[in-house]
Amino acid sequence: MPNLPVISLVNAVGKDDVLVVGLAKTAGSEVVVGLPDDAAAALAKAYGRPLAEVARDLGGSAKNAETVLLPALDGKRLIVVGLGDIDVSPEQVRRAAGAALRVASGLKADRPLGVSLSLDAIEPQVLKGAVEGALLGSYRYRDSDGKPGVATVSVVTPNARKPEARLALELGVGTATAVARARTWVNTPANELYPETFADEIVKLAKSVKLGVEVWDEKGLEKDGFGGILAVGNGSARKPRLVKLSYAPRGAKFHLALVGKGITFDTGGVNLKPADGLTTMKSDMSGAAAVASAIAAIADAGVKVKVTGYLPLAENMLSGTAYRPSDVLTMYGGTTVENFNSDAEGRLVMADALAKVSEERPNLVIDVATLTGACVVALGERVAGLMARDDETADLILDAAEVAGELFWQLPIPEEARGKLDSKVADLKSGGDRWGGALTAAVFLSQFVPEPIAWAHLDIAGPAFNPHAPYHYVPEGGTGMAVRTLVALAHAVTN
Ligand code: BES
Ligand code: MN
Ligand code: ZN
Repeated sequence: MPNLPVISLVNAVGKDDVLVVGLAKTAGSEVVVGLPDDAAAALAKAYGRPLAEVARDLGGSAKNAETVLLPALDGKRLIVVGLGDIDVSPEQVRRAAGAALRVASGLKADRPLGVSLSLDAIEPQVLKGAVEGALLGSYRYRDSDGKPGVATVSVVTPNARKPEARLALELGVGTATAVARARTWVNTPANELYPETFADEIVKLAKSVKLGVEVWDEKGLEKDGFGGILAVGNGSARKPRLVKLSYAPRGAKFHLALVGKGITFDTGGVNLKPADGLTTMKSDMSGAAAVASAIAAIADAGVKVKVTGYLPLAENMLSGTAYRPSDVLTMYGGTTVENFNSDAEGRLVMADALAKVSEERPNLVIDVATLTGACVVALGERVAGLMARDDETADLILDAAEVAGELFWQLPIPEEARGKLDSKVADLKSGGDRWGGALTAAVFLSQFVPEPIAWAHLDIAGPAFNPHAPYHYVPEGGTGMAVRTLVALAHAVTN
């Protein structure tokens, strides 16, 4: 697992190798934020000009998450990062801290660096944003680039000793650790992370935070009739698994059920993907990574909510034992499904897990999946789709996402789309035509969560993996999308 820097709160800027301060917009001018007047005066004297001017001349600006590295003073480096409007939101600070720490961890140095992060973070939510942004911006998958990176981050705040600030630090560290863990699972190549080894990793994590855990191997799956997971996993020599996680703290009133898609590699199977579509498909287990990692963080923080997680894990391969289009599968619970396309494997493994967890009649079921390219066409690569059985549930999740700083957009589940799934040979077909593919997939999943159980579906196919250059606190590769929203939601339903 990745090493994140050790982070702490301090009352004043110390003697670290790197100092990060902010540049904010206010009343038409740009002001430096996070430096006491005497320190600002000393720096202005050393540079011969006010810091805001030096930063601007070197290409810096108050635009959120824009960074500029100033010439070193006495061997100490200074990064000025744009905050945007001075009335900062937690997400503005999260992004600014992330961008600055990304610059700091890329600096040439002969030893790991200590960073002071001084962005005038006062409110607990803003402080938590700074902590999360700093840690997420420092994240690196396997330190193979030879750069030493950042060892410690000291977040400067006048409230360093206040209990609200300490709690914000603790929660921020917990969430960022969970996001980093999900990123690393996603980044791990599919020859290393496959259903059996992924299940082992989840079991190890579960034990470390005292979660209940249960694993079905291929024999157990057969015995209990998980026909969707078995069909999808059958083309691979790496056999499928189903993992159940249980967290049941005393006094919990709300039962939250989470299901995450865990396709450790998606070739498309018999409906083989074209070359371009294959390159990022080790990330097709991002939903399972997010769910498992979030539940560990929820348990670790002692949030008072009962959580049950199901992670169906399979590799969708093409071979002599692969399932075919037109195969009829008997899913967990007995529903028969006509497979219309072997590349629509996600909904089949999810259906088994959704049917299983629904037996417990939880208060809310949320599934998280890199489910459809159609969702990426609709919303782009940075916004995830949210489809829900009712608007109250949708709003609950959108509010949690807003608090967490993740982008979701609600899409409808049109009733008439059910007609596309009519089959002549089974209860249901697994897909329809290409129009509204994200919505049809949601309709399919909804058939496995009996009404009136509240249910929502998060399609993270776009934002789960960033194949482009890094931006603010998001690295190239696995992003850990949905972890923060799930953790925030767990907190929200305790109220
Ligand atoms: N894992 C893919 C969806 C995906 C696409 C994730 C792009 C991330 C980026 C999923 O299993 C899939 O292949 N879906 C098909 C469904 C279709 C056959 C109905 C798709 O979107 O093409
Ligand atoms: Mn697929
Ligand atoms: Zn897939």
